[in-house]
Amino acid sequence: MSDFDALREELKPQCEAIAAQYEQPRSALLPLVHLFQSREGYASADAMRAVSEMLDLSLAVVESTVSFYTLFYRKPVGKYMLQVCRGLACTLNGAEDIMAYFREQLGIGHLETTDDGLFSYEEVECLAACDRATCMQVNLNFVYDLTPAMIDDMLVAMRAGKYAVAPLPQTQAPPKTWTLRQDMQVSRGEKSAGAQDQSEPNNPGGLDRDGIIMLDRILSDEARFKGRTKERLANMEPAMAEAIEE
Ligand code: FES
Repeated sequence: MSDFDALREELKPQCEAIAAQYEQPRSALLPLVHLFQSREGYASADAMRAVSEMLDLSLAVVESTVSFYTLFYRKPVGKYMLQVCRGLACTLNGAEDIMAYFREQLGIGHLETTDDGLFSYEEVECLAACDRATCMQVNLNFVYDLTPAMIDDMLVAMRAGKYAVAPLPQTQAPPKTWTLRQDMQVSRGEKSAGAQDQSEPNNPGGLDRDGIIMLDRILSDEARFKGRTKERLANMEPAMAEAIEE
């Protein structure tokens, strides 16, 4: 029996319990892939095939769903998956500087994994935590209000094996990138379709065009958009909130 067959057998009762919670088998797709990813460290081809069989869905349905989300990795990744938000709210709060700092400290770029297999790094779209921009996820756990000092502390703790979030299991050594060949075919290069006009080579993901248009509108209507959201101010130390409002 292969390692994967043994894992599938072990997880079978848990998979059945998850699937039984839903009226539509398809609704169990994401939780099941998550379950396999939590054990293998990535959403393997074996896992996607197993989920398609368990839920009686075509493999195409499973693969197309999994490939839509940055929450799933379709190749082995580092023990720490660092996904930094590059959405509009985070960009307004300094995400470009945060991303540049991460790249510099890690010595890798967007969608890459360090040679020692410890870190994978990705710049992702809005993580829906805009009131705590700039933010990121570490192995899908949120980290808010990022600063360079926080990044320093985080990387030191991860390298020492003392970070609060557990490392991902690593059932296979990760390659340099976890993107698949077909992902790259969009651009026949290293950029997504939305980043074709970006000239900054250090930022291959780039900012999307709609985001730039929206950013222009916000900056040209300063009276209306100036300052941060009330929700964000509510979470701040009073002295800092006052300083920002001045
Ligand atoms: S823009 Fe970063 S969380 Fe929404």
